[in-house]
Amino acid sequence: MQTEPLKPKGEQLLRDFVAQLRAIHIDQLERKWITISLLVIGLFVGIITIDAFFHGVNPPSKVETVDSASLHLNKEFAEDNLGVQVDEKGNVIVRMVAGRYAFFPKHISVPAETPITLRWVSMDVLHGVHIPMTNMSTMIVPGYVAEITTTFPKPGEYPVLCNEYCGMGHNHMWSNISVIAKEDWTAPVKSAAKGGSTNE
Ligand code: CUA
Repeated sequence: MQTEPLKPKGEQLLRDFVAQLRAIHIDQLERKWITISLLVIGLFVGIITIDAFFHGVNPPSKVETVDSASLHLNKEFAEDNLGVQVDEKGNVIVRMVAGRYAFFPKHISVPAETPITLRWVSMDVLHGVHIPMTNMSTMIVPGYVAEITTTFPKPGEYPVLCNEYCGMGHNHMWSNISVIAKEDWTAPVKSAAKGGSTNE
C-alpha cells in the first residue's frame, strides 16, 4: 500500500475545491451583488481598523474582576474612595459605580485636554456608559471592572448616559460630568491620602 505525503494531498483537495467552485454557474447579477457585499464587508472592516488604530476605539483588552455584591467593602470602590483622584505619577483616575438608576458619585469635575482613566463597576445589573464626543462607551458588566482612558477635548458639561437596558428606570439613568479648563482645575484634596490602586 502506498502512502502519499500529506501536503500534496491537501494541495490536491484545494485544487479540486477551486475547480468545483469555478464549475458552479454564478449568474451575472448574482456575481455583481457578491462583489458589492464583499466591498461593504471590506469597508466595515476598514472602518473598524481605522477606529482601533487612530481613534483608540478597542474592545476591552484586560479582564479584571470585582465582587459586585460587596463593593462597599471593597477598598477601591468603597464609597469614600469614589470620584476623581490623582495618583503619585500625576495620572487622573476616576472611579465610578453604576447602579439602578444612576452613576455614583452624582457629579464630578475633571480637567479638559488631559488623559483620564475611568474605572467603572456595576453594583447590580448590566449597565452601559456613553459619553458623547469622546471614545467613552463601554458595557459595565457586573463582576468586572471596565477601564477606559479618555480625553475630553474642551471644557463644558458632558452628558453621561446609560446605553444598556437595565430596567424600568433605564431612560432616566444619566448624569453630567463637568469638564473644566486644564489651568482652572484643581485636584480634589482627598487624592493624596488614599491612592486607590489596590488591585494592581
Ligand atoms: Cu443603567 Cu440602563
